[in-house]
Amino acid sequence: MSVFQADVLAGRVALITGGGSGICKGIAEAYLAHGAKVCICGRSQERLDSAAADLREKTGGEVIGISCDVRQLDQVDNLVAATLKHFGKLDTLINGAAGNFLAPAAALRPKGFRTVIEIDLLGTFQVTRACFDALHQSGDGLVLNISATLQYHGTPMQIHASAAKAGIDALTRNLAVEWGPLGIRANAIAPGAIDDTEGMRKLAPGGLKQKFLKHIPLRRYGNIQEIADMAVFVRTSAAAYINGTILVVDGGHCVVAPGVSDFMPD
Ligand SMILES: NC(=O)c1ccc[n+]([C@@H]2O[C@H](COP(=O)([O-])OP(=O)(O)OC[C@H]3O[C@@H](n4cnc5c(N)ncnc54)[C@H](OP(=O)(O)O)[C@@H]3O)[C@@H](O)[C@H]2O)c1
Repeated sequence: MSVFQADVLAGRVALITGGGSGICKGIAEAYLAHGAKVCICGRSQERLDSAAADLREKTGGEVIGISCDVRQLDQVDNLVAATLKHFGKLDTLINGAAGNFLAPAAALRPKGFRTVIEIDLLGTFQVTRACFDALHQSGDGLVLNISATLQYHGTPMQIHASAAKAGIDALTRNLAVEWGPLGIRANAIAPGAIDDTEGMRKLAPGGLKQKFLKHIPLRRYGNIQEIADMAVFVRTSAAAYINGTILVVDGGHCVVAPGVSDFMPD
């Protein structure tokens, strides 16, 4: 049961990169359930077709899936043109496409580092830039980047993703300043560790998942719905003055003082 009115996003058209799976599929579902029309993108058309069918069945909403590698400028231009052709407008861009894996800095090859930077950071920039005209014309555009919290401190085996997400935070603030006067807001959501996602499966394998819980004050992992709810909120009129902000949704994990987790009650 949603806390938002069922039609709170009626009339909105959102492009959601990475929307074929995980957190961004959850955001797509929430947007559709609240009246928005949605285009999801990822590299695998098969995955998008299956996700779109599932989303249609769950919400009855209008959703299309267009395959696009966000690193490839021609594919990005095609993605935006096809979205506009289908829906006639675009007022919301959610940049969630990302790649990640665990790798110690000394063993990470430059190619691996570059791949993550290109998907997360360059991809976010390329799609955002390609959407500028449409977001501007909408008169009430929103860029919502999906960031993270691992870049706030040194996170082992995450030098590539930390650098990429730190860059995404910088993009968010710069866009807020440059595009705010043009009627386009830019914000980010920084999820903490979200259960039942590819990110968690890759980054907290085996017993690590249980061990990590003591570092989260709320003593549980977040869920996809909680990130999706935040993404809906940022698109509502209640958030109309929120610009350039990185909204952390992490159960308090990133404000824990260094070293105190061992002294916190179970
Ligand atoms: N899970 C967490 O706990 C967590 C925590 C903090 C932040 N985040 C962020 O939340 C977002 C979603 O994470 P998730 O765990 O839900 O992961 P996920 O299911 O693996 O989602 C990543 C999506 O990005 C797409 N993608 C990857 N490379 C692409 C490319 N080159 N071009 C276009 N699309 C591409 C993938 O589809 P294809 O493979 O078909 O291309 C996939 O649908 C990411 O930005 C992640 O950094 C997650």
